[in-house]
Amino acid sequence: MSQESKGSGNEYVTLQDHSTGKNYDFPLMPGSIGPKVIDVRPLYAQTGHFTYDPGYTSTGSCESKITYIDGEEGILLHRGYPIEELAEQSSFLELCYLLLNGELPTQSERQKFEATITNHTMVHEQLHNLYRGFRRDAHPMAIMCGVVGALSAFYHDSTDINDPRQRMIASHRLIAKIPTIATMAYKYSIGQPFVYPRNDLSYAENFLHMMFSVPAADYKVSPIVSRAMDRIFILHADHEQNASTSTVRMAGSSGANPFACIAAGIASLWGPAHGGANEAVLDMLNEIGSKDRIGEMIERAKDKDDPFRLMGFGHRVYKNHDPRARVLMKSAHEVLGELGIENEPLLEIAMELEKIALEDDYFVQRKLFPNVDFYSGIILKALGFPTSMFTVLFAVARTVGWIAQWKEMIEDPSQKIGRPRQLYTGYTQRPYVAVDKR
Ligand code: SDX
Repeated sequence: MSQESKGSGNEYVTLQDHSTGKNYDFPLMPGSIGPKVIDVRPLYAQTGHFTYDPGYTSTGSCESKITYIDGEEGILLHRGYPIEELAEQSSFLELCYLLLNGELPTQSERQKFEATITNHTMVHEQLHNLYRGFRRDAHPMAIMCGVVGALSAFYHDSTDINDPRQRMIASHRLIAKIPTIATMAYKYSIGQPFVYPRNDLSYAENFLHMMFSVPAADYKVSPIVSRAMDRIFILHADHEQNASTSTVRMAGSSGANPFACIAAGIASLWGPAHGGANEAVLDMLNEIGSKDRIGEMIERAKDKDDPFRLMGFGHRVYKNHDPRARVLMKSAHEVLGELGIENEPLLEIAMELEKIALEDDYFVQRKLFPNVDFYSGIILKALGFPTSMFTVLFAVARTVGWIAQWKEMIEDPSQKIGRPRQLYTGYTQRPYVAVDKR
């Protein structure tokens, strides 16, 4: 029986400070699974030293019950449920309920939750005017940062972070409205009219409807495409304390409203080392162009003097395989086959690239495997999305993870404003020099 617990362990780690000869004991805190943590909260008060861990390679920033990743085994659990089973048997909205509430919903809870989300998908009409301020060629992620950050100007009645009811309303509003905001960014960029959501469609169907339908013609959502869409949302929903989630938590730790925090998460996700990688993978595969150029690109990725990296490869945590990449690779074949897009050249190049990279010592030694972004772009391209929308899709899916982690942090009695320290290596104190003396 799986359990949630923070063990009451009474183990300690002893730190010996050779500069003073003193020993210090720090509690070793066990979780329900995964590495234990050394509780260094008293370290500075006791030793006068800070820890030093840029990039947080060995640092736990919080306690969480939402998502667990085992990088060595390639395991990803959401509230204990394996991602492979959720992708196969669940739906994105059911996963949203699970991430927010901690348990899978009963039939009636699921119906109520779906109805709540469905009935919050429209945005305030005034919000439409915000888009007109952007150039038509603005990157949709730039529009997302701006429009989501502005939501707190429209929904004042759900910005009191200390009111549990308002926290849940804000969570529902964000999950419900992010697809509408995202598709409006796309429609604006191609000069087509915004498409209103419809309450008779599922979350994924509605997203596709708002993306691709036009007033001049009927648009029928393909069940193959909507199922693939829902699965892609599931695979991108949450991922422990990644860069954008940590950004949301940091922003939220000061008491900022949830809409502003999610806008901060969107900004962080946009980076090519993070969520921006799916767009960069497609650009890279297009740049490679044919299988016979793969060797040259792999050599470039290994060259320390060349900033080029193999986009879609590597991960801070996964050192075996990214379970999401495996599900996406399987889906890529299914979707392309079902859509009759036989031998898609980019998929062929991607699979050859993966094969060659995984036989190359450089990648094997550094445990660089395809991550979630490697195959997602190929499916998204097959589903008809422009590359500029790839990271937007990631943001649509990750909004539930961000807001669930934000809510968990706000509801954690031990949470404090985030305020890291530093190793200072700048000038020691020196007197000001008048300009005529410099
Ligand atoms: C996501 O954190 C998350 O969970 C993120 C995410 C999520 O769901 O939220 O999973 C989503 O962001 C996936 C990652 C998408 N990014 C990319 O695909 C961009 C390409 N990957 C790299 O930028 C890199 O692998 C990172 C950023 C993903 C991880 O970087 P790390 O953990 O800081 O690793 P590192 O930079 O210290 O690299 C270790 C070594 C270095 O070589 P050495 O100095 O040891 O000789 O591996 C090399 C790096 O040069 N390396 C790569 C490489 N990734 C790492 N070399 C070539 N190509 C790559 N892709």
